[in-house]
Amino acid sequence: MFPQTLLKKKLYIKTYGCQMNVYDSERMADILTPLGYILTDNPDEADMTILNTCHIREKAEQKVFSDLGRLRDKRDVRRSQGADMVIAVGGCVAQAEGAEIIRQAPYVDIVFGPQTYHRLPEMIAKATRAAEKTKKPNQKRGLGIVDVEFPLESKFDHLPQTEESRASAFISVQEGCDKFCTFCVVPYTRGAEYSRPVTEILKEAKHMLSLGAKEITLLGQNVNAYHGQAPQGTTSGEQEWGLGRLIYALADLGVERIRYTTSHPRDMDKNLIDAHREVPALMPFLHLPVQSGSNKILEAMNRKHTAQQYFAIIDQLKSARPDIALSSDFIVGFPGETDQDFEDTLSLIRNINYAQSYSFKYSIRPGTPAGALENQIEENIKAERLAILQELVNKQQLAFNLQTVGTTQPVLLERKGRLNGQFIGRSPYMQSVVVMASERLLGQVIDVCIDQAHPNSISGSMVTHENESFCI
Ligand code: 5AD
Ligand code: SF4
Repeated sequence: MFPQTLLKKKLYIKTYGCQMNVYDSERMADILTPLGYILTDNPDEADMTILNTCHIREKAEQKVFSDLGRLRDKRDVRRSQGADMVIAVGGCVAQAEGAEIIRQAPYVDIVFGPQTYHRLPEMIAKATRAAEKTKKPNQKRGLGIVDVEFPLESKFDHLPQTEESRASAFISVQEGCDKFCTFCVVPYTRGAEYSRPVTEILKEAKHMLSLGAKEITLLGQNVNAYHGQAPQGTTSGEQEWGLGRLIYALADLGVERIRYTTSHPRDMDKNLIDAHREVPALMPFLHLPVQSGSNKILEAMNRKHTAQQYFAIIDQLKSARPDIALSSDFIVGFPGETDQDFEDTLSLIRNINYAQSYSFKYSIRPGTPAGALENQIEENIKAERLAILQELVNKQQLAFNLQTVGTTQPVLLERKGRLNGQFIGRSPYMQSVVVMASERLLGQVIDVCIDQAHPNSISGSMVTHENESFCI
């Protein structure tokens, strides 16, 4: 069990939830590479499987436990063939539940949190020692390694540089949250807000550019709350930089496309709005969750802004960058939400006109203030409201996509599509674009004349000398 030789071992990682988890999963793979692990997308051949979990809604959590049951079966099959599999659970469910995971799923070997995954090599070494001690390779119980601390050291000081080349790369710049929206588990699972120093981020960005990145997305649970330590010796003498200042510096490095997610309306400061006006590389798309259009519900959610303040921010953004496309998250059926409150949300949506939206039924999360409220909304009302809201936002998304038909869009080609010769990329407005192209253009920005709009994507053909006059 757990051979510590440099023989190649297969690692399967399943990622649930947000972009931060996608980023963390990639870093886990980077950490385990020197130990001889290579990624596979087939869990049946995995020597180690990591579930990188999400705790934001109940459904996501339930999925982890049903997936774990299936993994145990896969491991039994591998054991019957003389092989084995280490089962590890990371991410926010692991952070929230800790050893409880092992109580519910005793065959799990390792449980670790979002702030301790840099210690995975030690955990694996511990697991190996424990396995050798018991000398019972077919034991039913897992090895019981749990590390869900919030350590004093930052994991970022211990992560190796990634060597994977990506046209669209991610950098985690900020983590955690101090806002305590009453529905949300993030402040408990990801911990207090933390911003990485500017110098570290610029170094990582340069490295990614050298690997061929054209686009960098700055990630954080509360990314625009970013306030990282300024580089030493800055002439203006500031101690900290906000996100706006960081974006100017990234543009100076020559990053072609810059994005950031996820933002809070309260942290949209002047500097950041100015960056939307002055930095052409900052893409004209912003995910700015509002959650609800009712001031009463916004207050109960502890969002600390009103619908009117949100409109004012959107007005400022639009005057800075008139073509900016907007996206939001919505929660329906928050405790105490009346028909009128829900109507206010629909009215806000009609008013803003979103290019994309994500919407959810309120889900009670243990330990959060809203979970303890008594005026919970019935499931069927939540479902009804969600269907109405989704019909509206889907219409808006299709209308937005239709507006781009007949225009030329610069598209960063990110990956192959399903058909031969087909590629998928992104427009500046975050639309998925499907186009026929040649493989040598992967990772490049090409001009695409858009001729069709679909609910979740647009498609077109590469602009050439023959067809350039058809598109504006
Ligand atoms: N129930 C439903 N949706 C939630 N979100 C966060 N917590 C909950 C919850 N308890 C949604 C919010 C947030 C997004 C990431 O998930 O809309 O912006
Ligand atoms: Fe959760 Fe609110 Fe923090 Fe976003 S701002 S992570 S919704 S507590």
